[in-house]
Amino acid sequence: MQFSLKRAHLSAASCIIGLVLFASCSEETSTPAPTPTPSLYDRVGGITMVSDPSNPATMIEKGRLTLRSVVDSSILVIAADPKMAKYFPVLFAELGAGNTTGLSRLSKNFTDFMCLATGSKTYTYSGLDMKAAHDPAKNSRIPMKITAADFDAFVGNIGVGLAKNGVTAANNAQLVNDLVALLNTTKADIVQQ
Ligand code: HEM
Repeated sequence: MQFSLKRAHLSAASCIIGLVLFASCSEETSTPAPTPTPSLYDRVGGITMVSDPSNPATMIEKGRLTLRSVVDSSILVIAADPKMAKYFPVLFAELGAGNTTGLSRLSKNFTDFMCLATGSKTYTYSGLDMKAAHDPAKNSRIPMKITAADFDAFVGNIGVGLAKNGVTAANNAQLVNDLVALLNTTKADIVQQ
């Protein structure tokens, strides 16, 4: 009796060990958690802090720095494009008079918008929504509604702005395509004629 009790204990113990081993084995063989797909914001630099070349002694997320640089380069390309001039008389008149307030606000708002749209969790956008921003009835800074052809030309100008910052179809076609696709998601709201 004593002998069989011992055996019963032993076999119960080996069952438990077996179950534990089985459980741990099955854990090891289960599918590993998928690596999260990097957001577009991550792909343009993400949250790594770098020093801000425009503001001495200030740090900035690398993702925001890339997007701000692309926005600022693109604004210059847009300003030099004769097809765009008719949309920006307010901004250009201010600049002609040496007033850069509107330019700084546009740069900040456009950069905030791009940060948020690409997946930044740090920045927020407090400007007008895309429909209102491009509707002369809601935004006195734009005198006319935008055509589909001019929207495409504007996105082309942002492509030039990207290239000026080292992102080209030749060296990063996927990133260019994904950013252009993101911009094109705003087309239905922005083209209003
Ligand atoms: C490609 C997608 C576009 C995005 C993401 C975009 C984004 C923006 C943003 C964030 C603002 C600032 C809104 C505010 O301050 O509340 C803005 C303003 C403006 N946008 Fe766009 N935009 C786009 C396309 C266009 C196009 C195609 C045109 C004209 C061809 C255009 C002309 C303007 C003008 C004239 C303003 C007002 C500028 C000023 O404040 O003086 N945008 N846009």
